[in-house]
Amino acid sequence: MNKHLLSINDLSREEMESILATARKDFLELPKRDIKKVPTLRGRTVIDLFYEKSTRTSTSFELAGKRLSADVINVKADSSAVGKGESLKDTVLTLNAYGPDIIVIRHPHVGAPAFVARYTDAHVINAGDGKGGHPTQCLLDIFSLKQEYGELDGLKVAIVGDILHSRVARSNIAGFRKMGMKVTLIAPPPLLPRGVESLGAEVAYSLDALAGVDVIYLLRMQKERHGDTGMIPSLREYIARYCVGLRHISGDQRVLHPGPINRGVEIEAELADSGENLILQQVEAGLAVRMAIMYRIIVDSAAASAESPKAGAAGEDRAGADIKNIRAVG
Ligand code: CP
Repeated sequence: MNKHLLSINDLSREEMESILATARKDFLELPKRDIKKVPTLRGRTVIDLFYEKSTRTSTSFELAGKRLSADVINVKADSSAVGKGESLKDTVLTLNAYGPDIIVIRHPHVGAPAFVARYTDAHVINAGDGKGGHPTQCLLDIFSLKQEYGELDGLKVAIVGDILHSRVARSNIAGFRKMGMKVTLIAPPPLLPRGVESLGAEVAYSLDALAGVDVIYLLRMQKERHGDTGMIPSLREYIARYCVGLRHISGDQRVLHPGPINRGVEIEAELADSGENLILQQVEAGLAVRMAIMYRIIVDSAAASAESPKAGAAGEDRAGADIKNIRAVG
């Protein structure tokens, strides 16, 4: 891995596969053990810096850091000095003074994680930036699909809903295509981004297009990003045309959703409560995948600095110690 994970485009397919293999091999089974903790990041510090609301991403990053034995600090913008007017730059400079190893950042503005990376020595992980990207969601979704389907090459996926405002859609279109999947976007025209043709996906305007796909990936209607005027003329009409229920599912099709779900808007309650969806498997995967990302971002860069001609024995010792620690998982 590179020093930071700012975008899914930072990773090659091989790197994605390698992170997911680490998640599967070393971390997936950990919650089933009596002692759900490994010493891998002992002595490291992780700061989770969230400027937007979150349940899944914030909880799983916090838990992932704690289960890796790191010291984890959670900073929520609405209960921090951000509320007194402190800028993102000054917040990051302040937090950087505590010497964190990793900063996980969620922010409403596209590009905020790259901005943070300019003002810290820590590794920066993008936990969602506006409608820019959500690379760790993409990785956990691919992990969930691999658990369900095995190889993904040639698998057809439809991404349905509020694509315009979705950072998950942007990351997942790129990530799914990298894994050899064929992507169709289904939405009413106002909820598709300008220049949608350039994303490398087919575009359809009705749920009829679900008939030809293996996987259905539903997106939340992000009403909070629609502004006062609204993006669609009528929510009732949207629900009638785009809310997916059990009657739309056939054969081995499985349904994913990044959460939080809006029951009765993009997904009918009966489908949300059925075994046809992988929503809780995605949540479970999020923990293992985020543990793997934090572990690999530290260990890969320690190994890279140990290999560099300038690296001293300290770098090599550190990389070696980290690699031994992951083996202590067993
Ligand atoms: N999928 C996702 O990012 O959920 P949260 O907003 O709850 O983190």
